[in-house]
Amino acid sequence: MPVPGATPEGREALRLLLTRYSVSAKHLREPGPGDDELWAMAMAALRAPDHEKRVPFRFAVARGEGLERLAALFVDYGRRHGKAGPDLEREREKAMQAPVVVAVIARINPGDDVVPVHEQWTTVGGAIANAVNALHFMGYGAKMVAGARASDPAIAAAHCVEGEILVGWIAAGTMHEPAKARGEIDPSCVLGRF
Ligand SMILES: Cc1cc2nc3c(=O)[nH]c(=O)nc-3n(C[C@H](O)[C@H](O)[C@H](O)COP(=O)(O)O)c2cc1C
Repeated sequence: MPVPGATPEGREALRLLLTRYSVSAKHLREPGPGDDELWAMAMAALRAPDHEKRVPFRFAVARGEGLERLAALFVDYGRRHGKAGPDLEREREKAMQAPVVVAVIARINPGDDVVPVHEQWTTVGGAIANAVNALHFMGYGAKMVAGARASDPAIAAAHCVEGEILVGWIAAGTMHEPAKARGEIDPSCVLGRF
């Protein structure tokens, strides 16, 4: 089906959006997004629908030394879970695969009288979606991951201050091989009538 849109720019933007897919960290290499591109990613995240503009999230970028810190946290996590030798090395690799890893940190205020918690979380999700879309538009592969490490208290404490929640990480970089094609989900399964 041709992509609808009133202008060629709109059609191209929509075409790009409809071709976004996640690229896991093991397929990502240098170069990763630079400062200007991460700035644009954050601007895109800030375009997510956000009731009363609470901005219930922030990003923490790990590159170089930051990735070493993340790797040390993952190795410590592995040790605490009984891993040793090559398994511990894999923990380190997990953190070091992508050239840029952006932690997504939620700042949900349960006491907000106007914006309920579910709306604040919705904004966090929108911000993540806009961020990975922006990275895709700029030519980078990216994937949002969380898993057990994101909810580990020691790893979370290294990222968050009081009241914040570590949601997970967006791994970003250049794809070193084409990603596998994936099947489309039929939009009729989400598009109904009221
Ligand atoms: C908050 C959040 C956490 C996620 N955590 C993981 C994860 O730990 N591992 C994983 O394989 N996918 C995770 N995903 C899903 C991937 O980011 C991705 O959307 C999924 O693999 C589908 O691929 P696609 O984006 O190409 O459709 C998470 C998504 C979100 C929004």
